[in-house]
Amino acid sequence: MVEIVPSILSADFARLAEEIARVERGGATMLHLDVMDGHFVPNITIGPPVVESVRRTTRLHLDVHLMIENPDRYVADFVRAGANSVSVHYEAARHLDGTLGMIRQAGAMAGVVLNPATPISVLEDVVEVADYVLLMSVNPGFGGQGLVGYVLEKARKLVKLRQKKKLALPIEIDGGVHRDNLAEVVRAGCDWIVTGSAVFHSGDAESAVREFRAIAASATAIPC
Ligand code: DX5
Ligand code: ZN
Repeated sequence: MVEIVPSILSADFARLAEEIARVERGGATMLHLDVMDGHFVPNITIGPPVVESVRRTTRLHLDVHLMIENPDRYVADFVRAGANSVSVHYEAARHLDGTLGMIRQAGAMAGVVLNPATPISVLEDVVEVADYVLLMSVNPGFGGQGLVGYVLEKARKLVKLRQKKKLALPIEIDGGVHRDNLAEVVRAGCDWIVTGSAVFHSGDAESAVREFRAIAASATAIPC
């Protein structure tokens, strides 16, 4: 089942509960929360207290994407704050296997994130200890950027790796997904599709999620 995962990065933070209720009415079952530290990426966003407040307003699956240096220091805090899944960048984690173990130990699904330029081949061995993989389809830091086209080829490679290893891990994609490229993204094999500006800047977040879910449901992954 393909999920549309709204990213609150493009929501109105002063009205977060209303924005979340809108996407929930549209059928979203997961919410994407972008954590940026001003070091790993050139932008600063939210920390555990905001995740905790969001947790109190919704029962949706909270998918936390850490774009931070030294993720080991913080992963357990985000799980305690209410994250259901926490992903860390391959490029930021010094001891990735250990960091994924810490996330699982704390009680959440553990994800690995790859920047657009990081090849799928780095996952060859670690993919077995990850619960999902997030492919960045923009350079992380900001919403509203254009999708980097070659990332869809990476998604197809990851589908093959998943098949070879007989794993069921979801493939998540994040950045630059909108109405016109959504079907192509689904056909490349992505399962969790993050959309920020296309949902929250549409003027009607509820309808946007409903429409995107319908587009995703009618596009079928092409077997490779
Ligand atoms: C970018 C973030 C994304 C962002 C996507 O660094 O990780 O989650 O919200 O936004 P759009 O869908 O606008 O590209
Ligand atoms: Zn993200």
